[in-house]
Amino acid sequence: MKLQVLTNPNEKLRKISRPVTDEELQSDETQKLIDNMIETMAEENGVGLAAPQVGEHMRILIAQTQNGAEAFINPKIISRSRRTMESQEGCLSIPGVWGIVERSKTVKIKAKNRSGEPVRLKASGLASVIFQHEIDHLNGILFIDRAKKIQEGEAGGAAI
Ligand code: CO
Repeated sequence: MKLQVLTNPNEKLRKISRPVTDEELQSDETQKLIDNMIETMAEENGVGLAAPQVGEHMRILIAQTQNGAEAFINPKIISRSRRTMESQEGCLSIPGVWGIVERSKTVKIKAKNRSGEPVRLKASGLASVIFQHEIDHLNGILFIDRAKKIQEGEAGGAAI
């Protein structure tokens, strides 16, 4: 089922999300939420989606990876490159707005997959941007808070 994506300004986008327990993750309700988030991201043509964007304050994000749309639970950045890059970003919660954001080039992520198994990965390029942008959502931060330059209209960039 496609969920409604909250748009800025909405105070629910500013709340810090809480960690998901193993028991909660295994519940039908959470598994259904993950399915619905994957469906919503696909229908909105996004490459990332965080649970607070659909009004759930749980530390769950969906990222488009080389394996398709995958869920990451309680994701943490455990290290980041000192080198940075400028990324051009949009957000499903801020339609029609784009910005240039300085992000770490690569990040190492620790999380759980939807089955509760621990995963670690190193992300670079767009994947690195997706994780940094989505983990910001879990902390109530939007890309417009960090953007050096904000523009309206249909400029290029991925909606995350
Ligand atoms: Co976003």
